[in-house]
Formats: sequence, C-alpha cells, structure tokens
Amino acid sequence: MEDNLISGAAGHEMMQDRPLPRHIAIIMDGNGRWAIRHGLPRVLGHREGVKALKPIVKECSRLGIEVLTVYAFSTENWARPAGEVNTLMALLEEFLDSETPELKAQGVSIRTIGDIGQLPVSAQAALARSRRDTANQSKMVLNLALNYGGRDELVRAVNRWLASQPLGGVLPALDVDTLAQHLDTAGLPDPDLLIRSSGEVRLSNFLLWQMAYAEIYITDVLWPDFTPEELQKAIAVFRMRERRFGGHS
Ligand code: IPE
Ligand code: IPE
Ligand code: MG
Repeated sequence: MEDNLISGAAGHEMMQDRPLPRHIAIIMDGNGRWAIRHGLPRVLGHREGVKALKPIVKECSRLGIEVLTVYAFSTENWARPAGEVNTLMALLEEFLDSETPELKAQGVSIRTIGDIGQLPVSAQAALARSRRDTANQSKMVLNLALNYGGRDELVRAVNRWLASQPLGGVLPALDVDTLAQHLDTAGLPDPDLLIRSSGEVRLSNFLLWQMAYAEIYITDVLWPDFTPEELQKAIAVFRMRERRFGGHS
C-alpha cells in the first residue's frame, strides 16, 4: 500500500514532532491462514495468535500507549464450528489466568467491550477476576473486545440510555456526547490508529462509531507473525500521516 511506505529522511524528521497514538485498536486477523500455511489445524493458529499478543501488549505499555483494544471475538464469530469457538474461549481463559499477574506488574488494567454476558460462565468468571486484580493499574488499559459487534454495541447503548430516562416523560433528543457515554468504550479516547493484520481491507463490525477519525494501517503480515517491530512500523506510518479532522492547516 503506497502511503504505508516510509521514505527518506524527510519522513523521519516529521515523525519526531507528531505524537504517538493514545489509543491503538487491532483486528488480530489471519490465525487460520497462518495455521494452514504451516500445515497445522486452525486452532493451533489461534494458540500462536495468543502468543503473539503478549509482546505487543508489553511494547504498547513500554511506549506509553494509553489504550490498546484488541478484537478477540466478534458477534459474527459464533458462526464458526463449535470446536473452534470452544478453543477460542479456552484460550481466553488460559490467557487471563496465566498473564494477569504479569499484566498487573506492567501497570496494565484489563477491561472488556462487547456483550460479555453471552460468554461461557467460566470465561466470565476469569474476566471478572482479571478485572478485579488489575483495577488499580493506571499505566495502560488492555481492552478486550469479546462477543463484540459495533452494531450490537450501538443498539445496547441506545437501550441503556432509554432505560436511564424517567418513565412516562417526554424523551429528550439524543446527542453525540450522550450516546458516546453509553457505549461500552465510555470514558476511553477514540482509537487514533487501527491496525489490521492479514491484508483484509474491512472493519468487520469493529468499533464503527469510534473509528470516525482513526488512521487505518493494513499489513499483509498474519497475526501470529505480528511482532513489536511490525507495531513500530505501523506507529511510524501513523506519525507521518497528516490528520485534518475535516479542517485544514
Ligand atoms: C482471527 O483469525 C482470529 C479470530 C477471528 C478469532 P482468523 O481465524 O479469522 O484467521 P483467518 O482469517 O481465517 O486466516
Ligand atoms: C474479525 O476477523 C474478528 C476478529 C479478529 C476477532 P474475522 O476473520 O472474523 O473477519 P471477516 O469474517 O474476515 O470479516
Ligand atoms: Mg479472519
């Protein structure tokens, strides 16, 4: 992709001035293709995908990124074979149980977005433990998108707002800030940078509202092969982008 190229010293100088993204969102895609390429079952691709996430979280925390949101399971991913869904849920629990102490030591607080109530109860319990154990950490938020869909989130947000209104009264008009305050991401800044691995050029129902002005970076690298160096490349490209937010300089 042409504008993903980092060229020459000029680009490098500009990068010094431009801030880091406060919030990075990642669509961790390509585990299945990684497995197929290695002649392995898809579930082993997911296992490698979880392994790849750990150094990325660490690197984001080291860089001073405030929020890292990762798309781990979409509202549409239930359409996959039950065995694959079960493996993904088991990997989630394994990740939470084994990584929470280290995440806590790194100052990372675990949060979720998505309709968590539909996940297996053991996964919900593991999430509750991890959230509780890391609640006081303030260096970075690791935001796990689980049973997450942008459309589902918007509908739940509107319904949450409706439920907060006094019964029998005339409903006020809903405005942008009020709706944002009822989203799962309430209180978090919008993503500045969206990274999608494995070359697909689509949002797949991820953070539809919040992506309004995100810079988008797509790489052909499959998620299990995504390293901190790949993250650095994405951030370098981000820092060379001119963000106008509809205005001009
Ligand atoms: C992403 O990898 C992980 C999840 C969706 C949970 P995929 O499983 O979608 O991998 P591909 O797209 O089939 O390669
Ligand atoms: C998006 O990837 C969801 C996650 C990475 C969790 P998918 O592989 O499910 O997306 P599509 O189906 O290719 O759009
Ligand atoms: Mg995929």
